[in-house]
Amino acid sequence: MDGSKPIALIGFMGVGKTSLGKKLAKQLGWIFIDTDKLIEQKQGINIMQIFEKCGENHFRQLEHNLVLELKSVKNAVIATGGGLPCFHDNMIHLNSFAQTVYLKKEADQLTNHLKNKKSTRPLIAQLNEHQLHDYVEQKLKERTNFYELAQFCIDADRYALEKITFLIQSKTL
Ligand code: S3P
Repeated sequence: MDGSKPIALIGFMGVGKTSLGKKLAKQLGWIFIDTDKLIEQKQGINIMQIFEKCGENHFRQLEHNLVLELKSVKNAVIATGGGLPCFHDNMIHLNSFAQTVYLKKEADQLTNHLKNKKSTRPLIAQLNEHQLHDYVEQKLKERTNFYELAQFCIDADRYALEKITFLIQSKTL
């Protein structure tokens, strides 16, 4: 048996890719891969430090290298960083080896979730609540075209976690 194509979760910061991904992987008996965590492990420093020491472009290159490395992975749920789909043709690569699922939420919901979870995210760590809302709204607009390249889209505002993992399974398996 070759194993099954991985499922890659796509979407903005704070949409819930990590919690959903862990739950889904557990239900399927698959491994869970978080691109941010894997990059941190490989580099030996956290995302904040990577941005501080090497800059965003370097981080985007690390993300791209990781996407290429993941091409042969099977039976895995992959939670991708919120910006990963928008650089270096990563969506084309992801679509070539994974089943890609865009988890979609409105800017208001995302902002609400992110306001107490900014400190580990370099792009928003310094923003006040008002600035955060503007940033999320603007970035979401810029990124939507990339996110919509995913093969499936789930309106994550509408459903509870349980239902979303069920929907992902019914679409992808
Ligand atoms: C980023 C999202 C983060 C992380 C980095 C940059 C982004 O991942 O990769 O802080 O550009 O949206 P999460 O989506 O898991 O927060």
